[in-house]
Amino acid sequence: MLEQTNRLRYFNIFLDSIERQDREVTEAFGHHVHWGYWDSNNLADGSAEDFRRAADQLSVKMCEAGRITDQQRVLDVGCGFGGTIATINDRHEHMDLVGVNIDERQLSRARELVQPAATNKVEFIEADACKLPFENNSFDVVLAVECIFHFPSRELFFKEVKRVLKPGGYLAICDFTPVDMVMPWMGALELMFGGLLSSAYGQSNLRYNYTVDDYEKLAEQTGYRVLQEHDITVNTLPSYLITRQLMRKASPPGWDAELDSMVNQIMEWVSRQGLLRYMIFSFKNLH
Ligand SMILES: C[S@@+](CC[C@H](N)C(=O)[O-])C[C@H]1O[C@@H](n2cnc3c(N)ncnc32)[C@H](O)[C@@H]1O
Repeated sequence: MLEQTNRLRYFNIFLDSIERQDREVTEAFGHHVHWGYWDSNNLADGSAEDFRRAADQLSVKMCEAGRITDQQRVLDVGCGFGGTIATINDRHEHMDLVGVNIDERQLSRARELVQPAATNKVEFIEADACKLPFENNSFDVVLAVECIFHFPSRELFFKEVKRVLKPGGYLAICDFTPVDMVMPWMGALELMFGGLLSSAYGQSNLRYNYTVDDYEKLAEQTGYRVLQEHDITVNTLPSYLITRQLMRKASPPGWDAELDSMVNQIMEWVSRQGLLRYMIFSFKNLH
């Protein structure tokens, strides 16, 4: 998995900052590595603590989308530092919780941070999202929080999740989804920024981003029913400024902070125009 994790350079920044005990970066990105969710944008105060609370809230929203209840076996694919597994572990009983990631460094931090609550089991396993080392029909719910754009293929991932989900089980994901009319422009953006994005953030091939329609087709082709399509763009917008500031502060030599900041600003601008939407989707496995 080393070759793949080498491409996720932004995680090197977080891991270095955590090792240096940078309080702000560790607070903001040492548990969850995803956007925050604010009920109202006016509530965001720009602090790392506030961002952490908002990131917790996004995990709660994902659990609601996956209809997680007590006494379930739940898989979190691309689990980062285990922040979402920790959220479930804190809120539910008699759970069997499994986190999967391609990066052993993230997994070992997750193992340190997340101790199973009295009635729960927690396990973190190294594996690829598209080759899950689990038996057929073995999970009630599968989550993928802000990571599907990194996976080798959304289609393979949906098929693989279908295999490991029990009949009637739920899949919940969140993703940045362009509206249909911007798709022709994504190729141009890819030409301008694709190299930077891929070298810093790993696989992020803009041309192959999925629209809402694409997700609906994928669900139909792979045997799921769409349960929820929730546009939470407006609730996530404060994430751009805080991540821009923290990434700039934490940037090591060799990281192009200016370009990174510009890409962040472009993403914020297209999101504010309604052209790029932050969506939570949930799907029911039909058989
Ligand atoms: C933006 S982070 C999100 C982490 C976590 N879901 C969270 O919300 O805190 C993307 C995650 O996807 C993981 N990832 C990337 N490619 C993967 C793959 N092929 N299989 C499993 N995980 C992968 C990365 O290592 C990283 O932890």
